[in-house]
Amino acid sequence: MLAVAAGWPLVRFLMPSGQGDSAGQVAIDRAQVALGTAHLFEYQGRPAVVLQPVPGEFVALSAVCTHLGCIVQWQEEESQFLCPCHAGRFSTDGSVVSGPPPKPLETLPVTLDGDQVLVG
Ligand code: FES
Repeated sequence: MLAVAAGWPLVRFLMPSGQGDSAGQVAIDRAQVALGTAHLFEYQGRPAVVLQPVPGEFVALSAVCTHLGCIVQWQEEESQFLCPCHAGRFSTDGSVVSGPPPKPLETLPVTLDGDQVLVG
């Protein structure tokens, strides 16, 4: 399992800045979001994550912890996000499971278009 936050600098380096369209929408290949996994990407200049918690259902969230702004990590075995700074935990819909975060991860709009997951 890859920790989402650990891969962020590499993703940011590899990601072309023109990935989104002029309206700020980001298109992600569905194949990059396998069932039970999380795919980190950049949304409006900030880290975000899209996941497929159940078959055919895609959820996009800000990856920025609502406590003090650390980047959350996907824990595949637990199907939760863990914030490495103060052990805040979030569910697949972004709601707080435990720890100090005062509110859920920001939810981002998702639509499906063929083989693409459109965020924004
Ligand atoms: S910054 Fe995430 S729990 Fe503190």
